[in-house]
Amino acid sequence: MISRRMGAEGPEVSAIGLGCMGMSFAYGAADDVESTRTLHRALDLGVNHLDTADMYGFGRNEQLLGPVVRERRDEVFLATKFGNRSTGDSFGGTGTPGAYVDSSAAWTREACDASLSRLGIDTIDLYYLHRRSPDTPIEETVGAMAELVTAGKVRLIGLSEVSPATLRAAHSVHPVAAVQMEYSLFSRDVEAEMLATCRELGVALVAYSPVGRGLLTGAITSRDQLAADDWRATVPRFAEGNFDVNLRLVEEVRAVAPRSAAPRPRPRSPGCSPRARTCCRFPAPSGSGGSRRTSPQSTCGSRRSSRPG
Ligand SMILES: NC(=O)c1ccc[n+]([C@@H]2O[C@H](COP(=O)([O-])OP(=O)(O)OC[C@H]3O[C@@H](n4cnc5c(N)ncnc54)[C@H](OP(=O)(O)O)[C@@H]3O)[C@@H](O)[C@H]2O)c1
Repeated sequence: MISRRMGAEGPEVSAIGLGCMGMSFAYGAADDVESTRTLHRALDLGVNHLDTADMYGFGRNEQLLGPVVRERRDEVFLATKFGNRSTGDSFGGTGTPGAYVDSSAAWTREACDASLSRLGIDTIDLYYLHRRSPDTPIEETVGAMAELVTAGKVRLIGLSEVSPATLRAAHSVHPVAAVQMEYSLFSRDVEAEMLATCRELGVALVAYSPVGRGLLTGAITSRDQLAADDWRATVPRFAEGNFDVNLRLVEEVRAVAPRSAAPRPRPRSPGCSPRARTCCRFPAPSGSGGSRRTSPQSTCGSRRSSRPG
């Protein structure tokens, strides 16, 4: 398994991670038995980076992962997130009725204890601020996260969906190991500034939704395939009118994918199939011998690395 370092000081973890959100949340019906088998299979294959969040299924995703993580604790690099809250039984995502963001120091501490309890573990390997509230200075949130590190409840801290300026401010308070951002052929915003900032600071970039929430795989060819409770139906990418245009783009990807996915002559570089990519980490600092390429395809599966690059 290709590995990457999680930030400048973090451990080596599998370059391909397993995002667990869809096992409890957002993408229609899920089957806990199958999900548990999937978690074990991923670990068996050397995928040791598991990604969850307290908001995924209102805690149910962390509860699902708990037994597997406890059983195989030494094999797992466990990342979870906080900051999205809900007043009731609503989605909990930004912009949804009842949902709000709370990155206060008090909630940082409370949310961490709740996640540890649901997971049934003593320490979270990587704890992300999922979304930041504009009302709370990032220094306050990161200060509270740093206290969690000192207390031994968290090993590394991360941020999700922040600007390069926020990353810099946070990093000046406590080293940030990773930033999690959407990155795929559909969402390339990080290429403007964030990737360069991560390289400069030695922060890993964890790409979420790397196959465009399933659309880039070519498996979804009609909006009717999305179940009534599949949140993707509300995402502009899947909206009526946009969807057909995006499908044509996917066709272009399908045309070149077989060439890109063809087995490489080098046996130690197995490549990164679209199916397998759920969270890929990207090279961080320049000057570390790492690749400077920025496309998901070229960076997540092209080389075995003992450094962030
Ligand atoms: N930080 C954030 O704000 C944020 C936001 C979104 C997601 N995330 C994290 O990132 C993870 C990955 O995001 P994502 O789940 O949206 O990623 P994604 O990999 O882009 O999409 C996953 C979806 O694609 C489907 N899929 C993948 N390969 C397929 C194939 N070859 N054929 C058919 N279907 C395929 C999966 O189906 P199967 O499940 O059947 O394989 C699943 O429904 C999440 O699980 C979560 O941990 C973070």
